[in-house]
Amino acid sequence: MSNQPQPDRILIFDTTLRDGEQSPGATLNVDEKLTIARQLARLGVDIIEAGFPFASPGDFEAVNKIAAQVGTEDGPTICGLARATKGDIETAGRAIAPAAKGRIHTFIATSDIHMQYKLRKTREEVLAITEEMVAYAKTFTDDIEFSPEDAGRSDPEFMYRVLETAIAAGATTINIPDTVGYLTPSEFGGLIRGIREHVPNVDQAIISVHGHNDLGLAVANFLEAVKNGARQLECTINGIGERAGNAALEELVMALHVRRSFYNPFFGRPAESEAPLTNIDTTEIYPTSRLVSNLTGMFVQPNKAIVGANAFAHESGIHQDGVLKNKLTYEIMDAESIGLNKNQIVLGKHSGRNAFRTRLKELGHELGDQELNRAFLRFKDLADKKKVVTDWDIVALVNDETQQA
Ligand code: KIV
Ligand code: ZN
Repeated sequence: MSNQPQPDRILIFDTTLRDGEQSPGATLNVDEKLTIARQLARLGVDIIEAGFPFASPGDFEAVNKIAAQVGTEDGPTICGLARATKGDIETAGRAIAPAAKGRIHTFIATSDIHMQYKLRKTREEVLAITEEMVAYAKTFTDDIEFSPEDAGRSDPEFMYRVLETAIAAGATTINIPDTVGYLTPSEFGGLIRGIREHVPNVDQAIISVHGHNDLGLAVANFLEAVKNGARQLECTINGIGERAGNAALEELVMALHVRRSFYNPFFGRPAESEAPLTNIDTTEIYPTSRLVSNLTGMFVQPNKAIVGANAFAHESGIHQDGVLKNKLTYEIMDAESIGLNKNQIVLGKHSGRNAFRTRLKELGHELGDQELNRAFLRFKDLADKKKVVTDWDIVALVNDETQQA
């Protein structure tokens, strides 16, 4: 089999609608899933894992509709999850059929603890199922992703054999899940390096990573995997997902964007290259975060990196003073670069009291006349120095004002 062309940038595989929806209480209906899928396409994700079609008729319908309406020729690949069984794979195959580019993602556990207690299967049986089910999935689409579930706790030698078998049977992406969020960054990087060194046909597939945040390490683990050759990242908006959640898309994308001079050499580019490392339109990050939070009812913690309400707010006097003089003193990225204030009335030095009062109201703050006057004067002062005053700047001003009152 010929080698799989390797992408020159990172592919973003969004699983908000599958692993993300597995967050307790985050259930979405079909229309809500379609709305999110359309926004994910606008954001520029390469692959949408739209659901687990065998799990329920609702999931089948959502994947099927997303495949038909969002999976257009120039849109993202639409993927359906399937356990390594004929029933799951056939159902996923039917669900993704309308997509211009459809993928089946099939998985089976390879750790001893999962094989012994959950699957009750031997290693040889798991190898045989992998071969048979990947080949079966290939009868529905050429684009097959295979995951050895609980890879992070699997015996690497056995996992290498499973991966070699999956690739030989036709898998074009091999995804390495740290299912229980157990690994540390150097271990995860080493795991990816080991796969590249020990799986003989690894060049016939793209290496992907998937991870959970049980120890809060998922994003750090992925960035180490990228340095060792992973070229697809599986993530969710706001990091929602099973238990402590999945790796957060916005954190990965902005880390690769803000620190591109550090990561460029791992892609064979000069450090100073300005070419993007992902296909994501970063200005769609904030609107996507708000949409997912509103529709799932999962609130974003205020101190959440990139999209939390405090992520660009400066509270201490020293920081505010520094930012007023030069915002690079305490900001490593522009709020505008993640789309804050996009499609809203932009507040700047020409805005009047009324626009300021209205925005405050939208942000949930109603000030008395005196407080409003003081806050407005400080807003004008800030607007003179900054092109755009963000919602987070305004919230910081107001917090300051109400604390002083
Ligand atoms: O966490 C996990 O192992 C998964 C697999 C289905 C990839 O979500
Ligand atoms: Zn998962």
